[in-house]
Amino acid sequence: MPPCKLALKLQVRPTRPGGIFPVSPVGLKQSKNRSESGLLAPVVSAESGDSRVWKCLYRFLTDRGAQAHHEKDKLRMNDKTNEDAVLHLGDQKISLPVYVGTEGEKAIDISSLRKESGFVTLDPGYVNTGSTLSSVCFIDGEEGILRYRGYPIEQLALNSNFVETSYLLIHGDLPNPEQYETFRTNLRFHSMIHEDMRHFYDGFPSSAHPMAILSAMVMGLSTFYTDIEDPENDDNMDLTICRLLSKVRTLAAFSFKKSIGQPFIYPDNSLSYCGNFMHMMFRVPAEPYHVDPEVERALNLLLILHADHEQNCSTSTVRMVGSSLTNLYACISAGISALWGSRHGGANQAVLEQLSMIHENGQDVEAFMEQVKDKESPTRLMGFGHRVYKNYDPRAKIIKEACDRLLDHLGVEDPLLDVARRLEEIALNDNYFIDRNLYPNVDFYSGIMYRAIGIPTNMFTVMFALGRLPGWIAHWLEQRNNPKDRIQRPRQIYTGEQIREYPQ
Ligand code: ACO
Repeated sequence: MPPCKLALKLQVRPTRPGGIFPVSPVGLKQSKNRSESGLLAPVVSAESGDSRVWKCLYRFLTDRGAQAHHEKDKLRMNDKTNEDAVLHLGDQKISLPVYVGTEGEKAIDISSLRKESGFVTLDPGYVNTGSTLSSVCFIDGEEGILRYRGYPIEQLALNSNFVETSYLLIHGDLPNPEQYETFRTNLRFHSMIHEDMRHFYDGFPSSAHPMAILSAMVMGLSTFYTDIEDPENDDNMDLTICRLLSKVRTLAAFSFKKSIGQPFIYPDNSLSYCGNFMHMMFRVPAEPYHVDPEVERALNLLLILHADHEQNCSTSTVRMVGSSLTNLYACISAGISALWGSRHGGANQAVLEQLSMIHENGQDVEAFMEQVKDKESPTRLMGFGHRVYKNYDPRAKIIKEACDRLLDHLGVEDPLLDVARRLEEIALNDNYFIDRNLYPNVDFYSGIMYRAIGIPTNMFTVMFALGRLPGWIAHWLEQRNNPKDRIQRPRQIYTGEQIREYPQ
């Protein structure tokens, strides 16, 4: 990065024990402390979108001991308290800094633990590990709360559309009308893929899973758009992001057309983001196609509900891969692969397959639930349970209502919906599920909606990927703009053979 000169006059004074802020750089606006509890640090925001200014300011502050968290055009002072946690290890007492997030979550910073004591922490599955500071998404799993950039998911579901929500996640705030129009225009403009990429599809067998194709094709984008390699050019980055958001939609629709042996339908840029996707998915050259606004609305909703979910498996994968400084396309391709598995995004396909199996075999729902609860059986109730939610997943609530509306509108009577409702009813009243806090997650009803729209089962996880894309991008950007970011490299506790001699 070239040296960046900044004339700054800083006023730094503690607001409360342990606080290091506010910081009032001359020429920059400082917003009010948003927290009533006084726990939240001020957010300093600038007119300039030049991330170099922020990186410079960030370094200036952190070099002087301030705890700060850098975003593209914001610098958020973190709430590191002076209440250190003390760890007793034999005779040794180790003080570890404590952080409090803007919603009051507490964390012990153990990054110096090994250096001071020789110990590492062991947390398989990262059940109790905060991997980063992040301002993209907030979840309270106990209360069933989900917010993107502070906005409750219920309000976004009611009032926003996928393009606006994507902007919010990626840029940190809702767009003004001009920003929205520019973003939308860029998304429209970049909908086509290079003709050479179209030929890649010829090489895949028609039986290929569309997730495998999507992951490969997104990686393929990096061979065409090598300008992503310039990490200092922010205009370049906006362009890359719009390209990706727009082209992944085309790639997804083409994967579907490939799998059913129909010709690819090129994008129609007069349509909305979701309308254009439906057009590429469902239109055939021989017939006119009309985008049903109710279905378009339902699709917007589904994508919004999947748009982010903080440090889940695929997002953590995107961050992990990104920490090696590989390009955005490679990170998103890795995220798509991580999402595919049935413990994660692949669950929506698994739910539908499970419901279909119960229905087609005429299986007794109660008997099936006994099988699910049997510890000897590998069967799990797909679409139930969540690592973070120990309450009803707020997205599942919204989807359940939307599902009823959509099926009504389309005049569809899906017997699988009856099976799903019955399973849910039994689960919510059964001690096995109650004791383990197992509730329907986002995937329990989403598949029934996709099916009603005409999206086949093996495309469900692709739909999830399309929705999650802005979230992945937002996290990748947050990490990229953090000058203190380091390569992610967990430790392990080795349990294998001790040294032994190679037989002569
Ligand atoms: N059906 C039956 N039992 C379950 C289920 C389920 N769906 N989920 C969890 N349990 C039980 C486990 O057997 C375990 O019981 P035990 O304590 O008696 O051993 C207990 O609940 C805790 O389960 P874990 O697997 O330890 O929970 P974890 O947080 O590791 O896993 C997961 C979460 C993977 C989501 C799990 O609930 C699951 O497999 N659900 C089904 C798959 C699914 O729907 N995944 C989508 C998640 S949402 C998403 O990624 C978009």
